[in-house]
Amino acid sequence: MNSKIIDEIKKLKKEKNAVILAHCYQNMEIDEVADFVGDSLYLSQMAAKTDAEIIVFAGVYFMAQTAKILNPDKKVLLPRLESGCLMADMINLDQLREFKAKHPGLPTVCYINSTAEVKTECDICCTSSNALNIVKSLNAPKVLFLPDTYLGKWVESQLENTEVITYLGYCPTHLRIKPQDIISAKEKYPDAKVLAHPECHAEVVKLADYTGSTTGIMKYAAESDSKTFIIATEKGVVDRLQRDYPQKEFILIKDNIICPNMKWHTLEDIYNALEHEQYEINVAQNVALKAKKCIDRMLEVSKQCQTKA
Ligand code: 13P
Ligand code: SF4
Repeated sequence: MNSKIIDEIKKLKKEKNAVILAHCYQNMEIDEVADFVGDSLYLSQMAAKTDAEIIVFAGVYFMAQTAKILNPDKKVLLPRLESGCLMADMINLDQLREFKAKHPGLPTVCYINSTAEVKTECDICCTSSNALNIVKSLNAPKVLFLPDTYLGKWVESQLENTEVITYLGYCPTHLRIKPQDIISAKEKYPDAKVLAHPECHAEVVKLADYTGSTTGIMKYAAESDSKTFIIATEKGVVDRLQRDYPQKEFILIKDNIICPNMKWHTLEDIYNALEHEQYEINVAQNVALKAKKCIDRMLEVSKQCQTKA
């Protein structure tokens, strides 16, 4: 059944010169048709590079919006419009202005998990994989960071001379992971390495052997000599790791670490997206132009860091 729809999607992709970008929290069946699967940074880099005419984004709304901002002349499709990011929706432009007014004159970093409007009034954006380098690049004793307080405070904990003042946003999925969950899992699997996403609570991150983005976690697990890993992020990462490294064991810290918004898209939705060219994501030109500066600046700093590494 799946193989028929997979073939049809591939045919449509070719006919329409489309590319499919998928976040690694997606249902795994999506990987069968995706051209690129990865974390937010990788997907925005791929969106910035593609010469396809249509971009289908199997991810959440802000990711498709970012792809559109980077590609104003291309058609960007989000197969299910319900797929928003709860964290991104925690701050709007008025709330951003209020936050900035309380701390005037400070450079402002927004997590890519934010709306295009919010990006228009921030200096630079970041993803979980480059947040540390982005904040460092500002060379400032104090910075504002939004919306994720946990990622912002994790960055601060990695720096000696920078105060990171954070907005109180968070990811409800990652906050379901409690320090006691890690302690119990370590008792059960004493030899396992704990790998955590920086959106987790600070007390959870403190118990981890490694903290990084979804791709960072996957890379660490691939390169490590350990055989067992306790994974403190969304289930999609565990599913992919278990598929790619069957000789190792990956334990999802808790059954319910699932982002409901990421899981909306099915193969059928991807097919419908391509067939009917739905649902098109547009960003008003004045908003897109300003938000693009904030994203371009991040891509530039990331490129410099990758060249140096
Ligand atoms: P990554 O940047 O690690 O892909 O994370 C995106 C995200 O939304 C995590 O919840
Ligand atoms: Fe947003 Fe959390 Fe889902 Fe990531 S896991 S997309 S931060 S709600």
